[in-house]
Amino acid sequence: PVMILLGPPGAGKGTQARMLEEEEGLVQLSTGDMLRAAVAQGTAAGLAAQAVMAAGGLVPDEIVLAILQERMAAPDSAKGIILDGFPRTEGQAAALDALLASAGRRVTAAVSLEVDDEAMVGRVSGRFTCGSCGEGYHDEFRKPAQPGSCDRCGGTEMKRRADDNAVTVRERLKAYHAQTAPLIRWYEEKGVLERIDAMAPIAEVREALGRITRGVT
Ligand code: AP5
Ligand code: ZN
Repeated sequence: PVMILLGPPGAGKGTQARMLEEEEGLVQLSTGDMLRAAVAQGTAAGLAAQAVMAAGGLVPDEIVLAILQERMAAPDSAKGIILDGFPRTEGQAAALDALLASAGRRVTAAVSLEVDDEAMVGRVSGRFTCGSCGEGYHDEFRKPAQPGSCDRCGGTEMKRRADDNAVTVRERLKAYHAQTAPLIRWYEEKGVLERIDAMAPIAEVREALGRITRGVT
């Protein structure tokens, strides 16, 4: 299958995509992760993307498409993919259709994770992860037992995303509503849209996604 996860910042796209990768054998393709890796490596794409990401805007389609195309061509992605944070514009959605068609594939399901905007600002600002094992924490909702030390691996280097502050999160929400939310209609017209209440607990969202993945909706 080719699954798309649509939803604003903090909706749980990354959380769910990682679980589907581990448990259903799909390959997670996150353009956000790819862009952050490019920034960290200081590649040309990374240099072009860095300031836009820090301001909460969308990186130009050409840059995102170049990065994604490279990963989609990898043999492991033939088993089935879950796109996390892509497409985000109509241009990207059209490019994805063309790319899939050239490989005899198409979008199986586009899942809209439906959430409340105000709750998302709180979910995203305050989030941080362990630099060694990637475990996720939150200033209010999920503090490590020992401040500054990871519960899972004992690592002491905590990382925060540069764009996870309240001001930038609001810009990211604006970009979502202006440029990405119209894709809900786009996929509805193609007959592949599914909606999930993503204010529900993580395990419930996971179950609903599992049913869609297995084609029992
Ligand atoms: P990206 O990395 O895609 O960020 P995002 O869309 O803003 O999403 P997040 O990663 O913040 O949230 P998420 O939905 O994955 O939620 P998560 O699972 O982490 O993009 C970053 C930037 O890169 C963009 O702003 C843009 O500049 C650029 N970019 C990326 N792709 C692009 C593209 N295609 N085109 C152009 N530019 C692009 O969950 C959040 C938190 O909530 C976690 O702490 C989690 O534990 C918790 N949580 C999750 N689910 C639940 C639940 N059901 N109940 C309670 N808590 C929950
Ligand atoms: Zn850790």
